[in-house]
Amino acid sequence: MPTTSKLFSTNEPLNTKSDRLLSVIFEYMTKISVETDMKKLVMNLADLGRELVSADRCSVWLHEPNEKTLWTVGGHGVKTITIPEDSGFVGHSIQTGEELIIEDAYADSRFNWTVDEETGYQTTSVLCIPFRNADGEIIGAYQAINKLTETKAFTNRDLDVLKIASNFTGKSLEAIILRNELVETQKEIIVTMGEIGESRSQETGFHVKRVAKYSYLLACLAGIPDHEALKFKYASPMHDIGKVAIPDSILLKPGKLTEEEFSLMKQHTTIGHNVFKNSKRELLQIAAIIANEHHERYDGNGYPAGKKGEDIHLYGRITAVADVFDALGSDRVYKKAWPLEKITAYMKEERGKQFDPGLVDLFLENLDRFIEIRDEFVDGCDR
Ligand code: C2E
Ligand code: SIN
Ligand code: SIN
Ligand code: FE
Ligand code: FE
Repeated sequence: MPTTSKLFSTNEPLNTKSDRLLSVIFEYMTKISVETDMKKLVMNLADLGRELVSADRCSVWLHEPNEKTLWTVGGHGVKTITIPEDSGFVGHSIQTGEELIIEDAYADSRFNWTVDEETGYQTTSVLCIPFRNADGEIIGAYQAINKLTETKAFTNRDLDVLKIASNFTGKSLEAIILRNELVETQKEIIVTMGEIGESRSQETGFHVKRVAKYSYLLACLAGIPDHEALKFKYASPMHDIGKVAIPDSILLKPGKLTEEEFSLMKQHTTIGHNVFKNSKRELLQIAAIIANEHHERYDGNGYPAGKKGEDIHLYGRITAVADVFDALGSDRVYKKAWPLEKITAYMKEERGKQFDPGLVDLFLENLDRFIEIRDEFVDGCDR
């Protein structure tokens, strides 16, 4: 695989080389500092290393102490491969903290054959450098393979230069791992809380998941960019969380609610809103909006605020369509599920009244895709 390294390939004076080195590093620093996707970040880091030392390939390995393994997060020509934590040059570097310059990999007993056997690649020379997190603990190793110059051997200078890339790798990977963990935690809390709301009101089965899926689909159809629509989807299970504060005597009442009971029930919107409104977490801010506005009506006759038209947040308008579509098609303690024709007739009838007319159009035009989601998550067969 040809690599066009701009560095150290000619006999330029050293100051020019250093200038190029710096410009390569700054170029990648910019890319790396804005990257939040782990795979892309690692590819950038691998590209940086390859360019810095004229290697054919670079790869990034992470240590999983609990599993006692090492795995390739990414790099050139690697799929995800897992090896024991004490094997290979990588394992040696991680255990001892040593950097390695290897000239002939196959002649070294520490070489782990797994990768070459799985990929058909031929490793000759290797540079291997462990990297650390901000606390100084070794969390992985950075590897450059096959020097592309005539000598085919990495030098001590290559090692020094590659330490730059390796150093970046530790710090930026840790930042991303922590960030991902936060997002995962947020998602988990949200789904858990949504399920609590669900079980309290005995809306068994996949209700929360279906509403989230319908909402996501409608959001995409409405032209919301995917990364925004995904946040909305993760927040969606919280829309009825305020129902946890509604007494069983109302929530589980088999028949129609009295006016007084219904006015209490309506508070599930503001209760949910109050739970989340002070959070600085983005997903929880979205959850606050959805909890507050999912029972507003397009014509202004909804609750709690009686907001009208586009004064209702788009997320509230979307959740209203998704929520009611699902509620009508489901058994509740107080009602039986409606047949599909009656539901679509209702949505049409309420176009521009209860619901945003544009969203109803999108919903009806793509009805088959909503039905697909409904058929995939049928109540009763999930738990
Ligand atoms: P839910 O059961 O999840 O219903 C959500 C929304 O779907 C309702 O909001 C309403 O807009 C729509 N919906 C559900 N079933 C029907 C129906 O049979 N006919 C029509 N036209 N629309 C329906 P809404 O009305 O604001 O109610 C909010 C929540 O209050 C409901 O959530 C449910 O938990 C409770 N609730 C509403 N009415 C009754 C009732 O008569 N008895 C009991 N026990 N609970 C009720
Ligand atoms: C829920 O999402 O748990 C309540 C059901 C609904 O309002 O449709
Ligand atoms: C839309 O209306 O298509 C999306 C714009 C928004 O996020 O409010
Ligand atoms: Fe609700
Ligand atoms: Fe709901």
